[in-house]
This record gives sequence, structure tokens and C-alpha cells, in this order.
Amino acid sequence: EFMKELKGISNLEDQVKKKLNINHVVVVPGNSDELSWVKEEMGKACVRYMKEVLKPNNTVAVTGGGTIAAVAEMMTPLEQAQNCLFVPARGGLGEQVENQANTICAEMAKKANGKYRLLYVPDPLSEESYHTIIGEPSVREVLELIRSSDLIVHGIGDAMTMAERRKTPQSVMKTIQEGDAVGEAFGYYFNKEGEIVHKVRTVGIQLEDLNHTNCVMAVAGGKSKAEAIDSYFKQGQSNVLITDEGAARELIKGT
Ligand code: G3H
Repeated sequence: EFMKELKGISNLEDQVKKKLNINHVVVVPGNSDELSWVKEEMGKACVRYMKEVLKPNNTVAVTGGGTIAAVAEMMTPLEQAQNCLFVPARGGLGEQVENQANTICAEMAKKANGKYRLLYVPDPLSEESYHTIIGEPSVREVLELIRSSDLIVHGIGDAMTMAERRKTPQSVMKTIQEGDAVGEAFGYYFNKEGEIVHKVRTVGIQLEDLNHTNCVMAVAGGKSKAEAIDSYFKQGQSNVLITDEGAARELIKGT
């Protein structure tokens, strides 16, 4: 019975790989929309994968959100990759403190026995303060670390859920709705075709930067996120997806 289940899962992984056109997919059993421990299982699977790719002194950039928080929660000392440095991938996106990349980055670093650097930038950023802030030497230093990171670990969100959770101004809300955004990652909102409908103005990783990073891991699950995952991968440059059965089954429907 167990072997049958394993075979089913690896079959599912192959189908998702084909559907999204990526090389590495890990599917954990269950649907995290319904069972919270499934999110923790995704967290564990992500930690396992990170341990395979990380080397000593590597830099890891992480985004915010509950899923990446679960990765931090499940992190254990990186014995084969000592002295890693953790940085938040981008500045503030309007999230509560527990969902902020800074918070998650610090927790993950502590559990990994690594170091961390944080980004202190207010959000949302006006055009004017954006230019002032990126000129600050302390910010610039962290931004350079982010841009030269060896691994990026990020979440993918359902567009409306994310827009509502963040302090999204009414006018931006309208853009997101009228643009039929379905997915979100790094503060970018995507429609079904994977086109950018809106982008939150903050410092740190921009979508183009993903091309220059060796390993980009997306962690997102739950049946409710299938459309969001699909939209992101229309142009997202991530090469690994850690997901769950709930999202995977929905993703491959009709293929
Ligand atoms: O940055 C937020 C992610 O895109 C999704 O957040 O893991 O809480 O669903 P989540």
C-alpha cells in the first residue's frame, strides 16, 4: 500500500514537471488548504532539498509568507554547509511582522546555525524615498548580497488573498482586480498568461534577477494555489517546485 502511494506521488511529480516545464518537483501527500501539517511537510521537504544544494559560506535569499515561515520552522543545523548567510529577498511588501521576509530570514538563520542580514526599508516606498534608500551604503551592501545569492527560496500566493492580506491601496487593488491577477510572488502579481499586472515597489530581487541565480526554489501548495502556481511558472525562472498533492492534482487536471 505504501509503495503504491509512493508510486502515485512520483507519477504526480512527473506530470507536474511536464505541465510546468521544470526539472525538479517534489510533491508531499495531502492538501495544505485542509490540513496544516501538510504545510510543515512541505517545509521539511524544502529543508531536505536545501541541504542537498547548499555549500559552506553560501548566501540564501528568502521571501515572506506562511509557507516560507514553515520552512524556517522546520530548519535544522546545516552541518554540511557551515556559515551560510541568510538575507531577505526583498524589502517590505505590507505584511504583518510574522509574514515578513526579515522575520523569517532571522528565524531560519538561527535554526540553521547560520548568519543573517536584514533589510530595513519602510513600505510602501515612494519613488523618491526608493532612490534615497538604495543610495544608503548599509542598504546597498545587503542588496549586493541579495543579488549575488546562491539560492533563492520563495513562496507563491493567490493574488487576491495576498492583495487583501497586505496594506494594498484601493487604486492598486483595482489594478490587480481589473488585470485579472491570479498569482503572486516577490510582490509581483500575474494574470493567467503569466503577464505582470502589478509590482510592489520595494528594493531587492527583481524578477529579471532570477536568471542569474543558480538555484531558485518555489514552495507553494494547497488546491487553492494551483492557478497561482501555474500563472507564476508561465514566466517564472524557478527551477524547483516544492508543493503538495492538493495543488498538484488540480494543476494537472485536463492535461
Ligand atoms: O509572499 C507571500 C507568498 O507569495 C505566499 O504567502 O505562503 O502565506 O501563502 P503564503
